[in-house]
Amino acid sequence: MTKKIAVLPGDGIGQEIVAEAVKVIERLKQAYGLDVELEQGLVGGSAYDETGSPLPEETLQLAKESDSILLGAVGGYKWESLDIAVRPEKGLLGLRAELELFANLRPAILYPQLADASTLKPEVVSGLDIMIVRELTGGIYFGKPRGVRTLDNGEREGYNTLVYRESEISRISKVAFDIAARRDNRVCSVDKANVLECTELWREVVTKEALAFSNIELSHMYVDNAAMQLVREPKQFDVMVTTNMFGDILSDCAAMLTGSIGMLPSASLDINSKGMYEPIHGSAPDIAGQNIANPLATILSVAMMLRYSLNDADNAERIEAAVNKVLDDGLRTQDIYSDGMNKVSTSEMGDAVIAGL
Ligand code: IPM
Ligand code: MG
Repeated sequence: MTKKIAVLPGDGIGQEIVAEAVKVIERLKQAYGLDVELEQGLVGGSAYDETGSPLPEETLQLAKESDSILLGAVGGYKWESLDIAVRPEKGLLGLRAELELFANLRPAILYPQLADASTLKPEVVSGLDIMIVRELTGGIYFGKPRGVRTLDNGEREGYNTLVYRESEISRISKVAFDIAARRDNRVCSVDKANVLECTELWREVVTKEALAFSNIELSHMYVDNAAMQLVREPKQFDVMVTTNMFGDILSDCAAMLTGSIGMLPSASLDINSKGMYEPIHGSAPDIAGQNIANPLATILSVAMMLRYSLNDADNAERIEAAVNKVLDDGLRTQDIYSDGMNKVSTSEMGDAVIAGL
């Protein structure tokens, strides 16, 4: 049966990189019988400009009725001063919450061809392969009460709430353990249990859930130490599981170990593995519209979609092989460019991947 993919390019470079990913999907349809239909929708600042909402009802419906969602990126200078309720980021957070995409998988893999692109020494990062499992629909991002209030003395006070229910912690731990079982069987749970009661509960529940996974080696680490260990000796990690905000921060750090945030895809899954797929990087308004952004993270997000939601490992492998081939051939967008390589534009990179398919 034909599967439906909602395509939400969003803002900034989102438009350009998603266009390349769409070309890849079209090629797979034509050459390898991939049975999908695409429908585009608005999200983020561009949606706000057109409809007054960063997540129009129509887009939410489209996302709900689709089998999978491909997202570019949201946000940009233009919308930074808007009220927080209608900022582009609310479009993304709304999709995560409405679709209950609680499990965010963020791999940090070093492509051997790009070992020089990392700011860390090659021996520290070569062979790096970490999977960060970030809780995505709870924690301080969504906790209530939240806001800014005025105190009796007239001073203003901002407040947010870090809150996790046991059920939220157990379901994300299970995802992490399942993934580790298909990798190196090691999970490091990251918390701040020495200070925050909420993450003391986190640690307790993760430990309890691990009992059902006898092959998994579970360790715990405070988030400050985890940040340090990620840059000191990143290869000690296999799977890391953590809260929404800690995962936001640590995944940017882990991504940059690979030297190329423009290379990394991500998946956000619900309990049935329906997912939204997007590059880890943002909308990069500073380079938008110049045809220089790296489309590979978005193209690799399509591979992740095929594997995790559409059950099509063959076509996922085709994409991954084509990406490896363009890297082997020395093609580089400017973010991963180094001397002696062949510098290409966004669309040239997309075309090269298609030729590789
Ligand atoms: C991310 C981003 C988002 C987040 C923003 C754009 C709301 O930084 O996906 O990591 O904080 O989750
Ligand atoms: Mg982030």
